[in-house]
Amino acid sequence: MLNKKIETALNEQVEKESFSSALYLAMASWSEVNGMAGIADWLYLQAEEERMHMLKFIRYINERDGYAIIPASKQPKKEFSSVKKMFEEVLKHEQFISASINDIVALCITEKDFTTQHWLQWFVNEQIEEEANATKILDKLSLVGEGNLYLFDRDIVSLRKASAGGEAAAEA
Ligand SMILES: [Fe+2]
Ligand SMILES: [Fe+2]
Repeated sequence: MLNKKIETALNEQVEKESFSSALYLAMASWSEVNGMAGIADWLYLQAEEERMHMLKFIRYINERDGYAIIPASKQPKKEFSSVKKMFEEVLKHEQFISASINDIVALCITEKDFTTQHWLQWFVNEQIEEEANATKILDKLSLVGEGNLYLFDRDIVSLRKASAGGEAAAEA
């Protein structure tokens, strides 16, 4: 059975993963209406992944006799000033999520919940990948500059496929 403090922290993480999904959907929609179908695809896929993260937390809380609470959705922002700024926000958001996961790991140690601590290791590893992916995209954007994003938009989803093997292996 989950202790109350851990259950609350995990439920807060459900909300954060849910918001991550909504944020990336908002970015996908903005990219799509601004003619960047490839960037939109990358973000739609990312939003799906965040939904999977949320589900993992929900199912774990319930499996351990807690009660996963489905949060109300906060509206993410609608406007992004540039593609580069948008991906800087992706990186900042992922760093925020990593810090949040680390805080729960630390709480598990003080509360001696080593089962949840062990279970969270998947997310610790996932966050390394999430931050690395965002950094990789920002590096590419610096290389190509923002004047002509045609090739970047065409190629961004293949960047994702290159790392998808790693994600699939982590899922198994
Ligand atoms: Fe996530
Ligand atoms: Fe993420």
